[in-house]
Amino acid sequence: MVYVLTRQTVQAERPTVLVTGAAGGVARYLLSELGSAYTLRLTDRRPFPGAVLGDLCDADFARRVCSGVDAVVHLAADADPDQPWQRLRDPNATALVNVLDGAAAAGVPRVVLASSLHAVGGHVDAGQAEIGEDVPPYPCCTYGALKVFAENVGRLYADLHRLRVVCLRLGGVRDRPLARSWLPGWLSGPDLVRLVTAALTADVEYGIYHGVSANSTRLWRNDRARAELGYQPLDDSAEYADQVPDDLPDGSSNHFGLRQRILHLT
Ligand SMILES: NC(=O)c1ccc[n+]([C@@H]2O[C@H](COP(=O)([O-])OP(=O)(O)OC[C@H]3O[C@@H](n4cnc5c(N)ncnc54)[C@H](O)[C@@H]3O)[C@@H](O)[C@H]2O)c1
Repeated sequence: MVYVLTRQTVQAERPTVLVTGAAGGVARYLLSELGSAYTLRLTDRRPFPGAVLGDLCDADFARRVCSGVDAVVHLAADADPDQPWQRLRDPNATALVNVLDGAAAAGVPRVVLASSLHAVGGHVDAGQAEIGEDVPPYPCCTYGALKVFAENVGRLYADLHRLRVVCLRLGGVRDRPLARSWLPGWLSGPDLVRLVTAALTADVEYGIYHGVSANSTRLWRNDRARAELGYQPLDDSAEYADQVPDDLPDGSSNHFGLRQRILHLT
């Protein structure tokens, strides 16, 4: 039998990836790069070109938008670590559960969850010189506690539904670090792409990984991301060390409490 490879069959072989929170700042770095390897389905509750508009707190919507995709990159959330529980619970807990439910119901094989270094930010204030991916969760704020919740619900779904769930504790994703305190936890756009691409293809059932660049200022270790995901970051915040201010212009350098310091990560 002779198979003829048509344009249609080539396109059909491209996996489809649902990106939630597509109108957000992190997605901005990802979409064009991911779009060259995957067929993307975008969604957000804010209008965005090409995105399916909807609120993931609506379980039916989450189920519909997950249907028929090969993977989900779940970014949608309130990304402000300064917000209280009342603001965070819907986008960061309800929507998260709905997406995992929707993915499980649709038989989606893999979900990549955007967690945050805030899930372990407490170790910063405890004076740890290096924080690995094996330390116990120690959130520094409600936002971080909800990221721990997300990681744990992810584990539950990985076990119960045979979903592959990859949790990425992202550092501060920007073109360049914003201040000196950002140097250890900075994650460049190109390294973010490397990390998410690795998470979409790695042979892991469940895992939690630190998403930082190859920063010379060591604090966050990401040995597990390198070993298990094959993540190879290339950028180093040290390149900007003499260009960044000592701290952010809002005066937060005066506060060395845990949450204030870790706020600089996002
Ligand atoms: N930006 C960072 O440096 C950083 C660092 C660590 C972790 N993260 C995490 O990465 C993810 C993306 O962050 P970001 O900076 O792009 O945030 P963002 O606020 O720029 O974008 C988030 C997007 O999610 C959408 N959204 C929120 N709730 C929704 C809902 N219920 N239904 C549908 N859409 C919803 C918003 O409309 C927004 O467009 C978040 O989960 C955040 O916690 C970000």
